Amino acid sequence: MEIINRKQRMASIARKLRRESKTVGFVPTMGALHGGHVALVKEARRMSDIVIASIFVNPAQFGANEDFELYPRDLTADAAMLAEYDVDYVFAPDTEEIYGPGFSTHVYVEGLSETLEGASRPGHFRGVATVVTILLNTVRPDLAFFGSKDAQQVGVVKRLVQDLGFETEVVVVPTVREESGLAMSSRNAYLSEEEREKASVIYLALRDAKIAFKEGQRNAAKIAQIVEDRIAAEPLARIDYVAVVSNDTLEPIDKIDDKEVLVAVAVRFGKVRLIDNLVLNRKQ
Ligand code: PAF
Repeated sequence: MEIINRKQRMASIARKLRRESKTVGFVPTMGALHGGHVALVKEARRMSDIVIASIFVNPAQFGANEDFELYPRDLTADAAMLAEYDVDYVFAPDTEEIYGPGFSTHVYVEGLSETLEGASRPGHFRGVATVVTILLNTVRPDLAFFGSKDAQQVGVVKRLVQDLGFETEVVVVPTVREESGLAMSSRNAYLSEEEREKASVIYLALRDAKIAFKEGQRNAAKIAQIVEDRIAAEPLARIDYVAVVSNDTLEPIDKIDDKEVLVAVAVRFGKVRLIDNLVLNRKQ
């Protein structure tokens, strides 16, 4: 496994791989790797000849009061994990390599960036869309792997891939959960032992919603209420939002028909903000 810091070198290796007709799978990350990332890498390994992962804590997707400075960074441990799962190249640029002097071009996906996470974290998806565009443009992968825990990010990335004409297929990998049901996330490391245990209420609430849906509940507000009630009963939890929206447009819905519906939640435990979701009527 080779670790690459320069964009030019990454792009030149990627060009060579394309000339050799290798299928390139790309796993973009911000490091602090966990089981969710392992699932992305394993899927990439299964579907591609060559696997490239990136590690870049992207300042542009953090708000002024967010945890950019504190975000866990451990390139040695992350690289060891990626080597263990047979990654071929790790692209680990520093901030100046991505955002060089005079950098002033941004990518903004209108319509999908303003709601849910976008409403709570203004500018977040502009930062995500910009860095993903730079990374895809550098690596030009055949396949790029994203986790379904970040459902809105998946929507934003799929849109930009289509709109900007990248020849990359976005592969969405199911959320990996701890035994308690808590979705794996780099931010779980900030939770106290008690918070980590109680945070499984998010999963339990989504499971309640799924059961209600299976039993015939089709009223979106009632599904949202079921999730809210369960989470609100946990004294350590502070709900940021519970939303029942179209999985396609992220617009709120009233009645659930046969289209995919996203039940999305963001909940704070102490200083840690966790997100999770459930898709009803999933098509595949
Ligand atoms: O999901 C993440 O880790 C990040 O948002 C991503 C896609 C690597 C962009 O910085």
